[in-house]
Amino acid sequence: MRVLLLGKGGQVGWELQRALAPLGELVALDFDSTDLCGDFTNPAGLAETVRAVRPDVIVNAAAHTAVDKAESEPELARVINATAPGVLATEAASLGALLVHYSTDYVFDGGGERPWREDDATGPLSVYGSTKLEGEQLIAASGCQYLIFRTSWVYAARGGNFAKTMLRLAAEREKLTVINDQFGAPTGADLLADVTAHAIRAVRTQPALAGTYHLVASGVTSWHEYAQHVIGFALAKGQTLKLGVSDIAPVATSAFPTPARRPANSRLDTGKLRESFGLELPAWQQGVDRMLTEFLGV
Ligand SMILES: NC(=O)c1ccc[n+]([C@@H]2O[C@H](COP(=O)([O-])OP(=O)(O)OC[C@H]3O[C@@H](n4cnc5c(N)ncnc54)[C@H](OP(=O)(O)O)[C@@H]3O)[C@@H](O)[C@H]2O)c1
Repeated sequence: MRVLLLGKGGQVGWELQRALAPLGELVALDFDSTDLCGDFTNPAGLAETVRAVRPDVIVNAAAHTAVDKAESEPELARVINATAPGVLATEAASLGALLVHYSTDYVFDGGGERPWREDDATGPLSVYGSTKLEGEQLIAASGCQYLIFRTSWVYAARGGNFAKTMLRLAAEREKLTVINDQFGAPTGADLLADVTAHAIRAVRTQPALAGTYHLVASGVTSWHEYAQHVIGFALAKGQTLKLGVSDIAPVATSAFPTPARRPANSRLDTGKLRESFGLELPAWQQGVDRMLTEFLGV
């Protein structure tokens, strides 16, 4: 099997380089790759890349993920999140390749408290959410075989993330305020990559499994509770911080105005994925604790 991975340097792309390697020959590109175009602002170049590589599977981990910045550069967000994935889908359809793509809880309006199911009505609140939804729609309309995984609150061991920011702030300050009215599940890029590899293998033998799936770790939390978990873990491991768990105060989203509106309810129902692929999704704390253990060296 030949796999073309795009966006190899991102959180999920980095983990995919590891998880996809055992599937076969892996061609992995970034926006600045030189031999072959991996730049999503150049959809025609991407089409040429697909024609040159002739992959059995295309995995797209590239995206315009700067949610607030997207509000002031909607055309750039649209070409990266919608137009280019649409071109990949058209090329996948003509090659007979499987396209794997990632989308987001931001396609929903965040209302209510029930976890969103795959066929619930969408209603993005932001440019990022709208362009990601348009990407999904272009892929579905292309006629290619696809897997779209909608996920949320992605973190990775590599690079910065919310937990590392909380630890840095807790080493500098005696009080913190963190939003407590947005709910979701922190999901590790490593989990996304591992499930992707399983799903690719399954779809290759059972094509009826292709489609859209919600993929997040189990359980639900708020950013406030997530921060408390991180600080509690670090303190229990003997880290020296300036604050304790009870010094993290809950605040409403309205206390931190941002250019892009974020959904309050980012809960995603993963029943379809678990049943279709026979997989279990670990509790969100499991992946976060593992990442913290590596980061803190404890
Ligand atoms: N992060 C989240 O919380 C989250 C939540 C839900 C869904 N998702 C989805 O999950 C997928 C993976 O996201 P992630 O967390 O891995 O994001 P990420 O770390 O921001 O990775 C995105 C990658 O795309 C690259 N990229 C940006 N512009 C590009 C261009 N013009 N051409 C080619 N590559 C370009 C980025 O490069 P630079 O870093 O150099 O810009 C980065 O390597 C995306 O589809 C995203 O929408 C993410």
